[in-house]
Amino acid sequence: MKFLLLLSALGFCRAQYAPNTKPGRTSIVHLFEWRWADIALECERYLGPKGFGGVQVGMAHGVHRGVGGALEQKVSSVSAKLRNCISYALQRVLSLHPNENVIINNPSRPWWERYQPISYKLCTRSGNEDEFRDMVTRCNNVGVHIYVDAVINHMCGNGVSPGTSSTCGSFFNPGSRDFPSVPFSAWDFNDGKCRSPSGDIENYNDAYQVRDCRLVGLLDLALEKDYVRSKVAEYLNHLIDIGVAGFRIDASKHMWPGDMKAILDKLHHLNTTWFPEGSKAFIYQEVIDLGGEPIKSSDYFDNGRVTEFKYGAKLGTVLRKWHGEKMAYLRNWGEGWGFMPSDRALVFVDNHDNQRGHGAGGASILTFWDPRLYKMGVAFMLAHPYGFTRVMSSFRWPRYFVNGKDINDWIGPPNTNGVIKEVTINPDTTCGNDWVCEHRWRQIRNMVMFRNVVDGELFTNWWDNGSNQVAFGRGNKGFIIFNNDDWPLSSYLQTGLPAGTYCDVISGDKIGDKCTGIKIYVSADGKAHFSISNNAEDPFIAIHVESKL
Ligand SMILES: *[C@@H]1O[C@H](CO)[C@@H](O)[C@H](O)[C@H]1NC(C)=O
Ligand SMILES: *[C@@H]1O[C@H](CO)[C@@H](O)[C@H](O)[C@H]1NC(C)=O
Repeated sequence: MKFLLLLSALGFCRAQYAPNTKPGRTSIVHLFEWRWADIALECERYLGPKGFGGVQVGMAHGVHRGVGGALEQKVSSVSAKLRNCISYALQRVLSLHPNENVIINNPSRPWWERYQPISYKLCTRSGNEDEFRDMVTRCNNVGVHIYVDAVINHMCGNGVSPGTSSTCGSFFNPGSRDFPSVPFSAWDFNDGKCRSPSGDIENYNDAYQVRDCRLVGLLDLALEKDYVRSKVAEYLNHLIDIGVAGFRIDASKHMWPGDMKAILDKLHHLNTTWFPEGSKAFIYQEVIDLGGEPIKSSDYFDNGRVTEFKYGAKLGTVLRKWHGEKMAYLRNWGEGWGFMPSDRALVFVDNHDNQRGHGAGGASILTFWDPRLYKMGVAFMLAHPYGFTRVMSSFRWPRYFVNGKDINDWIGPPNTNGVIKEVTINPDTTCGNDWVCEHRWRQIRNMVMFRNVVDGELFTNWWDNGSNQVAFGRGNKGFIIFNNDDWPLSSYLQTGLPAGTYCDVISGDKIGDKCTGIKIYVSADGKAHFSISNNAEDPFIAIHVESKL
C-alpha cells in the first residue's frame, strides 16, 4: 500500500505540470533567436554554473517571402491603423521553434517568420538537426534542459507564394494546401470547418472561430483528424527522443483543448539518458487570457500549465505606479490578484511579443529598455513563490516610434545578410553584437540563484509602509526589500534569517569570504537595519543563506 502511494505520488510529480528541471534549479530562460551553437556554449559556460534550470528555444520550419511579405504589400495600401492591427495580430502568434519555417524577405527576415512552419524538419536560421542534437546533449549534460516552442496550430500564411523559399528548401504551396515534406494536403486543414465569412478569425467572442479559423491568414491545421495529430506527435516525439524536456505550445488558445490532449496522449516519455523513467514532457500552453473573452486559461489546465499574461501586465502597472497602484498591494500577489492557481502558472515579466509593445499587457510591460524598473520586476518575480518562472533574454533592435507605435517591431535578430550573428562575450561578462543577455545582468543572475536557495520556503515576514516600500522573506532562507517610493527607506525589520553578516546580491557578489556590495548585519533575533536611497542605482536589497559571509 505504501509502495503504491509512493508510486502515485511520483506519478503526480512527473506529470506535465512538473518542469523537469534538475532538483535545486527553479527557472528557465528564453534565449530568443539564439543559434543552437551559442546556446550549447552558454549552457556550459554560464547557465549550468549559475543554476539555471533550462532554456526555451525557438523551433521552426520556415518560408521565404511568406504571409509577412504578402501581408506587408497588402497593408502598405491601407491605413496605418489597420497595419498596426495586422502586425499586432501577427506578432501575437508568430514567435519561436526548431522546425523548418518560411523565409520572409519583405520585410527582411523578421523574427516572426519562425512562426510559419513549412515542415517538421529540424532546420532553421538557428541551426540544423545535428547542431540541435549537439545543443540538447551538451545542455542536458550540464543539468540545463531544453524546452521547445512548438508551433502546431498552423502552417504558413494563406497568401504566401508557392515555392521553396523555406529554411530547408522544402517545396510548399499554400494555395493548394500542399506541404509535401510532412506531408499535409487540403484534407488536413480546417477550411471546411471554419464558419467566418473570410476564413480568418474575425470575432474573438466566438470560440469556434478562434479555434477553427485562420489566425491572421495562417493555414489552420485540422487537429481533430488522427492523421494530423499523428504527424504533430511524430514531430514532438522526435524532439523528446533527442532529449528535450518539454514544450511551450504556441497559439494554444487557437486549438481545442481536447485535440491537444489527443496529441499529448501520443507522446513518448522523456529520454532516460537524462530523465527518470516514466517522466512526461513539461507542457506550458500559450493562452492569452486577460479576462473578457469566452476562452479561458482554465480550459487548458488538464493538458498542462498555462502562460499567465496578467502577471507581467499587473506587475508593470504596479512598479510604474499607474492607476494608483502601489507595491504595498502586492501583499497578496498571486491568486489574490485573480491569477490562475500557482501550480498551473508559467510566469514572466515580459516575453518576445509583449516586449515589443504588442500582445497581452500593452504599455505597462517592463522590458530591458527600462532597466531600473525591469530589474526590480524580475527580482520581485524570482523572490516570490507564485508560479514557475521564465526569464527573458533579448536582442536589441532600433526602436522607431511613429504615433506611439514602434514601426521596427518586426526586426529580426542581429544578423549579417540574414545569417544570425554569434553571441560574443565581453571581458566584463556582458554580451556583444546587440544581444542584451538580461540573464547575465548581476541582479537577475543572482536572483535566479536566490530562487533556487529559497525553493520550497513559505512567503513570510511581509512588511510595507503603506506605499511603495515593501519587503518579504522566504522562511529562514532569504529576504528581499524594495524602495520604489520617492523618498529614502530606513527600517529595522524581521528577516527570519539566522544571525550573521550577509552580502547583498543586488549591489554585489559574495566572492570567497568577501562581499563586493552592501553588507547587512542580521542580529540574533533575526532583525536587520536596511537603508535604501530612492536614488540608488538599484533601490532594492536581497540576501539569502548562501550569501552569508
Ligand atoms: C536518448 O538519447 C541517447 C543519447 O543521445 C540516444 O542514444 C538514445 O537513442 C535516445 N533514446 C531514444 C529512445 O531515442
Ligand atoms: C513610507 O511611506 C510613508 C507615507 O506613506 C512615509 O511617511 C514613510 O516615511 C515611508 N517610509 C517608511 C519607512 O515608513
